[in-house]
Amino acid sequence: MRLFQFSLFIFLFTFSSCLESQKKFSEADIHLIPKPQSLELKQGSFSIDKNTTIYHEPGFEGASNFFKSFFFNGAGISLKNASKENANFIIEKDSLLPKEGYSLTISEETITIKASDNSGAFYGIQTIRQLLPVVLEGSNTLQTSSFDVPQLYITDAPKFRYRGMHLDVGRHFFSKKFIKEYIANLALLKMNYFHWHLTEDQGWRIEILKYPKLAKHAAYRNETLIGHYNDSPQQFDGKPYGGFYTQEDIREIVAFAETQNIIIIPEIEMPGHAQAAISAYPELGCTGGQVPVATSWGVFENIYCPNEATFTFLENVLDEVIALFPGEYIHIGGDEAPKKQWEDCNYCKKLINDLNLKNVRGLQSYFIKRIEAYINNKGKKIIGWDEILEGGLAPNATVMSWRGTEGGIAAAKQKHDVIMTPTSHAYFDYYQSKNTDEPIAIGGFLPLKKAYSFNPVPAELNTDEAQYVMGAQGNIWTEYMKTEEKVEYMTYPRILAMSEVLWSGASEDIDTDYPNFLSRLEPFMDRLSALNINYANHLYEIEGSIIKKENTFFYQLKTPTTGKKIMYRINNSEPIQHEGLIPISENTSIIASVYKDGSKIGRSFNETIYFHKGLKASVSLNVEPNKAYSAGGKEALINGIRGSNSRFGDKEWLGFWGDDLEITIDFNQETQINMVTLRFYKATGQWVHPPEKVLMWIDLLDGRKVATSALADSDTIANISTFRLLIPESAKVVTQRIKLEIPNYGTIPTGLQGAGNSAWTFIDEISIE
Ligand code: ACM
Ligand code: ZN
Repeated sequence: MRLFQFSLFIFLFTFSSCLESQKKFSEADIHLIPKPQSLELKQGSFSIDKNTTIYHEPGFEGASNFFKSFFFNGAGISLKNASKENANFIIEKDSLLPKEGYSLTISEETITIKASDNSGAFYGIQTIRQLLPVVLEGSNTLQTSSFDVPQLYITDAPKFRYRGMHLDVGRHFFSKKFIKEYIANLALLKMNYFHWHLTEDQGWRIEILKYPKLAKHAAYRNETLIGHYNDSPQQFDGKPYGGFYTQEDIREIVAFAETQNIIIIPEIEMPGHAQAAISAYPELGCTGGQVPVATSWGVFENIYCPNEATFTFLENVLDEVIALFPGEYIHIGGDEAPKKQWEDCNYCKKLINDLNLKNVRGLQSYFIKRIEAYINNKGKKIIGWDEILEGGLAPNATVMSWRGTEGGIAAAKQKHDVIMTPTSHAYFDYYQSKNTDEPIAIGGFLPLKKAYSFNPVPAELNTDEAQYVMGAQGNIWTEYMKTEEKVEYMTYPRILAMSEVLWSGASEDIDTDYPNFLSRLEPFMDRLSALNINYANHLYEIEGSIIKKENTFFYQLKTPTTGKKIMYRINNSEPIQHEGLIPISENTSIIASVYKDGSKIGRSFNETIYFHKGLKASVSLNVEPNKAYSAGGKEALINGIRGSNSRFGDKEWLGFWGDDLEITIDFNQETQINMVTLRFYKATGQWVHPPEKVLMWIDLLDGRKVATSALADSDTIANISTFRLLIPESAKVVTQRIKLEIPNYGTIPTGLQGAGNSAWTFIDEISIE
């Protein structure tokens, strides 16, 4: 009898655990971001519960501890260690696996992670975390005591060795708690670097014991710009603002980052973006005059003077910074340092002469090289923004390419390490939606898909040179991010796209990969919610495009996720369900919305198609648009659709950096024209300037040419400069072809953002009436 009872118990126990292990997972239940290199889903599952015991080989304490504390925080269960023979969750070494790579086997009885280093094991753990239910992300003790993960086999390793995110705490200051959360969330996405931008014109945020006025004075400004920098007049809030991290705070954050396998790169800006420091210690500037901690955004002329007092100051600051941050890199800035004060300063002129330098650019190079030598001597390496190429690169410097990828390409060709972070694909302070009720941002347009389509390795590099591209990072400049919620809104979900580019590799087939990414992102948002992250959700917006077939036109509406319906109205007609293409043969307005299960989700879409004479023409250009701003191709110039009035990065705008343009429009038949209207974007903060004048040549049928020119209209809307080319009465004729000449604005003058750089030209629709 007893025996029988016992075996019945065994039977029941086995049966129930067998049932449990038969919980079914399908591919659709797995939404790992970033996507692993290979995944083989098996039948059945493994349950993690209080009986699960862990064994890890020496060197994997970090990964093992992370999992135990994650599971304890989520489930209230402390997992015990056991010997290798008895444990059912094993982390072991496999020296053959690549750096940071891992394999993960989940079978009915065991979970096994293999890795050659702790980072690899840590990423294996992050994968298991993403396989577990999102409730575990909350810090609560749950009633549930058992959590299923699917049986599977994954082998995985990162494509790039540098997978980073940046955060500017100078323009706005964020709490220690928030910095830790930001770091923890990088770990979830298998990122490994946090670039902490600690000093700015508007605030110095790191306590330096030797220079107490940095924390007392340079960390605070009198007030802050409200609204947009481009607003006229600029307005200020009249409220003092500031804050800084004590060295104790920093040690705490550094120690925390270590548990998240994140290396922190501190940035101490020089020689520019130094006005806050100069405000506290005016002797660091060339004029010696008192300046305030900046209250507005942009670039300031008060930069460090390259004198011995400055070098002593910076070396002392760097000594304390180096003692706080164990990582290999110190970022020294180097960007946006106007040289006006150096040009006017007698000490600088003498120094240029004594050192046999060519000019102030040579002086910047001397400045950076001298700092590099100091930092190298302490066993650390420098990273600088791509301006450090000017006047000659410091011998061991890593270049962070931000004004496009050009700086990175030049540096890689000089055999220097490169981190890509071009404004076009990595500036997450840009707008992510064309919707006009989007919260205020600095400008630009960088939707999720564009972030996802980023390739950190430019085609200009050969295989050897490409090795110098360490990876990339997303940047969060916080001029327009006052709150931690806003930082999250701008960071998420674009950071997820960046993490996949960097870990899984750049997409080679965006039409397949992007929908696949979205199919994982949509459910992943539940995890972000569980983590209390204020992510943006533009997944239920609509994208429209015009399609030309022979000489007939259609409009197509798409929404990026599956299982939704689009309803639209044409010229205020009754709503129609979108299926197939919408024929277009006249000026047309379209309003559309996305529906799920009968309810409208997301925001409405609005488009106007201007059915002008250019639609049937063909267009050619003397230069290709910049690769980062050519999404719609040259046909976008005459497709009837205007670009956004507030987002110059959309697919209707073509961007050219410094080029003089010649645009030829061939009507392919005799056409009577009366007026040609051109539109250019104006965003001086982003170096985008309209031309001063445009010229048009009209080919008459008898072989003669007539020219006409125009200046910008006075009735231009904000951000847009319109030029109307009226056909002279003498030439009111039929033509086959016109040619437009559009000279670039030229070098950006002193006093404006980007002074000394070439201006960008952005042009959208060329309307022909
Ligand atoms: C930068 O955006 N000034 C690096
Ligand atoms: Zn800066």
